[in-house]
Amino acid sequence: MSTNTAIKIENLVKRFGKGDSLVEVINGASFEVKKGELVALIAPSGAGKTTLLMMIGCVEEPTSGTIWLGDEKVYENRWLTKQTRKIRREKIGFIFQAHYLIPFLNIIENVTLIPQTNGLSKQESEKIAIELLDYFGIADKAYSMPSSLSGGQNQRAAIARALANKPEIILADEPTAALDMKRSVDVVKMLKKIAQEQDVAIIMVTHDEAMLPLCDRILKIKDKKVVSEEVSKFQDLH
Ligand SMILES: Nc1ncnc2c1ncn2[C@@H]1O[C@H](COP(=O)(O)OP(=O)(O)O)[C@@H](O)[C@H]1O
Ligand SMILES: [Mg+2]
Repeated sequence: MSTNTAIKIENLVKRFGKGDSLVEVINGASFEVKKGELVALIAPSGAGKTTLLMMIGCVEEPTSGTIWLGDEKVYENRWLTKQTRKIRREKIGFIFQAHYLIPFLNIIENVTLIPQTNGLSKQESEKIAIELLDYFGIADKAYSMPSSLSGGQNQRAAIARALANKPEIILADEPTAALDMKRSVDVVKMLKKIAQEQDVAIIMVTHDEAMLPLCDRILKIKDKKVVSEEVSKFQDLH
């Protein structure tokens, strides 16, 4: 596999349930995402966007197929490691629609939680956290509780948290859904900057067509498969 490839999916299949209640969500998806790429993932509600992210993030087990994360093949018709949690913790940053910061920890405690779980010292992880919060313009909120921050500030803190363990991959599931237009553009521009400057591969699920021109490429779930489209197609809309 090219050293430039962060995610490679081959012939991925996902079915839920059995017999009469069998739901086939993904059937034969193949695609790649390169390091440094910000890719939008779009499809109608219920088409399998979250399921796809959760399989890439080693949370949801596929039915069959192959998943490579960087140069590690993590799944081929079964998990190739018992340590899916470790892979997740070390390689992946998750960002969700709701920020899911832990309400009884302050911002810096939220951001340093995973790096410290991964064995980084309190001092080292706090240094990284302060750098990240500074980068996102909320260093002055480091010792505040999430409840005292605005929606946009909490989402920035959640992005800082996703970045704190220096993941190779960020999976963002509708990260701007709860934000207004200006804040949404800010967040997507930040993700773009992270992808470019830190060589991180980012897949961002979005329902907002206005965000598409800010991305490098678009993946669409169509007929239970994944197709890639150029952003220029959507730029014509504006
Ligand atoms: N744990 C589950 N058990 C059964 N069906 C599920 C489960 N998770 C998701 N599904 C089904 O898979 C399909 C895709 O869901 P999802 O990935 O959440 O779609 P999207 O994120 O695109 O809205 C839906 O039909 C949903 O009902
Ligand atoms: Mg979803």
